[in-house]
Amino acid sequence: MKKILALIVCAMLLLSCTAALAEKVGVSMPTKDLQRWNQDGANMEAMLTEAGYEVDLQFASNDVKTQLDQVENMIAEGADVLVISAIEGSSLGEALAMAKDEGIPVIAYDRLLMDSDGVSYYATFDNYMVGTVQGNFVKDALDLDNAEGPFNLEITAGDPGDNNARYFYQGAMDVLNPYIEAGKLVVISGQTAFDDVATPTWASEVAQNRAENILSSFYANGENVDAWLCSNDSTAQGVVAALDANYNGEWPIVTGQDCDIVSVKNMIAGKQSMSVFKDTRTLAAQVVKMVGQILNGEEVDVNDTETYNNNVITVPSFLCEPVFADINNYTELLIDSGYYTEDQLQ
Ligand code: BGC
Repeated sequence: MKKILALIVCAMLLLSCTAALAEKVGVSMPTKDLQRWNQDGANMEAMLTEAGYEVDLQFASNDVKTQLDQVENMIAEGADVLVISAIEGSSLGEALAMAKDEGIPVIAYDRLLMDSDGVSYYATFDNYMVGTVQGNFVKDALDLDNAEGPFNLEITAGDPGDNNARYFYQGAMDVLNPYIEAGKLVVISGQTAFDDVATPTWASEVAQNRAENILSSFYANGENVDAWLCSNDSTAQGVVAALDANYNGEWPIVTGQDCDIVSVKNMIAGKQSMSVFKDTRTLAAQVVKMVGQILNGEEVDVNDTETYNNNVITVPSFLCEPVFADINNYTELLIDSGYYTEDQLQ
């Protein structure tokens, strides 16, 4: 009996020692409101735990001050590495300076952390490529090189506080601008500059309100809008809601990004034409790998050391490849790969 007791005590001691030894990773995500961040958070937590790390996962309700407090807490509680997806890229300067002082490496997750030299690495999908995939989709769907046109286009971009948003916009506009300049694409609202088409916090309601205004001001007399370039799914959902409520013309081409469940359902229903699939499992696996490399003192995997300057430093980055998704390949991409079950898309 004594022996068994002694064995149990030893096992408990061993367990608590390993727990105490486990390195701590703080993961700060912007919000639970959008499906993608829930998935990113859950994947990161599962994969980091599986790799033997202690994980402190926090979501910041899209509130900049909350995120700052959460990251500062992670530092105070002894995080060994921080993985941060910022609500607003330039708002975490104080926390990043603290992390730097304490020698804690920081990985910017999906969104670049701006205006600070306290960022060690950046892992994301190729943001500019996301935009070119969207732009090329519009170009091909309207057959802009051959069709006579002109076609009407409207544009809805992302959050000005998110560094990604300008890359998505620019990638798409670099494809579409020549056709706008040639008069083959016409933006009747006249709103083409990023600041005119941006959607603060990527909120669907904001995108919907703006789209409703455009539809009632410029498309109320029977004009068709042929394509609506939307930078992501949450904005596309707002535009689709506005079209549902305020538009009687031919349904336009609508682009998106993320393959959110609601948007995939819209794709199946013919209301959104495409999305860009950014498999959050791929990004999470890459970041877990980078965390391991940092903590083991190994060389960290990066494939881009030039593109992402945050106004202070150029941050070594790993860019994963985004994948085009539409009605024809979503089953293979999303269901066969186990990303969603068939039931989730009913
Ligand atoms: C992400 C997109 C996402 C958007 C809104 C961006 O930073 O890269 O995938 O749709 O934020 O959450």
